[in-house]
Amino acid sequence: MSKEPDNELIVVSNRVPSPKSSGGSQGGLAVGVMNALQKNEGLWVGWSGEIDENRDAQLNHYEFDSVRFATFPLTETDHQTFYIGFSNEVLWPLFHYRPDKVDYSRENLEGYLRVSQRYARHVATLVEPHSRIWVHDYQLIPLGFYLRQAGINVPIGHFLHTPFPPWDVLRILPDYENLLRYFSAYDVVGFQTKCDLRNFEECMRHGFDATFHDDGTIEAEGRRFRAEAFPISIDLESAQELARQGVESNIGKRMAQSLADRTLVMGVDRLDYSKGIYKRFLAFERLLEKAEHQHGHVVFVQISPPSRTDVPEYAELRTTLERIAGHVNGRFSDYDWTPLRYLNRGYSRESILGFLRLSRVGFLTPLRDGMNLVAKEFVAAQDPEDPGVLVLSHLAGASWELQEGALVCNPYDTEGVADMLDQALNMPLEERKERWQRMMDVMRNNDIHHWCRQFLGALSAVQH
Ligand code: F6P
Repeated sequence: MSKEPDNELIVVSNRVPSPKSSGGSQGGLAVGVMNALQKNEGLWVGWSGEIDENRDAQLNHYEFDSVRFATFPLTETDHQTFYIGFSNEVLWPLFHYRPDKVDYSRENLEGYLRVSQRYARHVATLVEPHSRIWVHDYQLIPLGFYLRQAGINVPIGHFLHTPFPPWDVLRILPDYENLLRYFSAYDVVGFQTKCDLRNFEECMRHGFDATFHDDGTIEAEGRRFRAEAFPISIDLESAQELARQGVESNIGKRMAQSLADRTLVMGVDRLDYSKGIYKRFLAFERLLEKAEHQHGHVVFVQISPPSRTDVPEYAELRTTLERIAGHVNGRFSDYDWTPLRYLNRGYSRESILGFLRLSRVGFLTPLRDGMNLVAKEFVAAQDPEDPGVLVLSHLAGASWELQEGALVCNPYDTEGVADMLDQALNMPLEERKERWQRMMDVMRNNDIHHWCRQFLGALSAVQH
């Protein structure tokens, strides 16, 4: 007898994977949570991606890729204030240690809270006595607080996909106490790394005068909750399978043909200043300056689908990258060789994983990143008999787990990154295999299903 679908697990995030949007532009949240939910029955609530002036629009229920969704539109003002203004012009730069890019206004804060309340009203209609609610990311931090206000008393967890900043950075935010207060409405608060967790604890201690109990719980606002690090990962088997298919696909074959036996270096990131793409281009330029023997033999393909195009910083970055890519190619290209291919568009996951399998080097050098799932996808995509080398920023959450096998660099050190890229390009097969094996061992112990079990296990242990 088939089980009636219920709302036992309700996942809430701003972005839900869209059947319409091109792969690669949705970020790690959509990929990670989608993989997790395909094995767990659950309902995923989020923004439909549409603008509609009707604030009373009802939830639209549908199923896609074996997951049930319930989505609703935002008004233009809500989108402007909640998503662009506060989420992406205040919290995103602040959480990525970039206070210079913070553009704060009270109007945007009000929009952020108004939309969180709207989410709470929708989610409240779906809650059943045995529901567990799992809220994702910085856009929806106040949601738990508003659900509690609405009398919802089931276990509620929050997972932050971005980094969490240190106390001295957080307190740049006017009203930071309230942000910390919202966290205390959850039962379990999850972070990507121990460093994010430490920062959060420091903020709760200094900014909120919370009490830390011996059983590991934090007490604030008359509630006790748990905060832990749960590093997100990928569905290893499905990534490996997609990578094999990607290489054999038409696009994979055409990519291989276009390389004509040259060595491929690959970067894949949403077009975002936190990803360090500009400095990465400079490091590649430095490599070409220093290593003349690489001329004509290496091709660096950077895939960066446009992201958050309504935020001015992102539009500026796009222009800057076009300029530097043109400069590098103008300086080094020959009649039969273009060293840097900068692709400003998204590709299907299958194509991306296929490209990653074809690469000798995964070149991922964010200036700050919650995790960087592409780094894990690069490792999963490799051919065990001839694996590539991961050059990874030590400021990506993924470096905590992959440091034993990756070449770990400081993305601000252009000279050092260029040297590391050279080292990766010259690494003998035996060392490549050894390093790859070490990273795979770690990833086998913590795949997306393990991540999901750990978080939901912690949430299920909550007594109400
Ligand atoms: O993975 C981190 C993240 O910030 C998600 O929260 C977000 O959905 C994704 O990147 C892509 O960003 P956006 O939803 O703004 O397009």
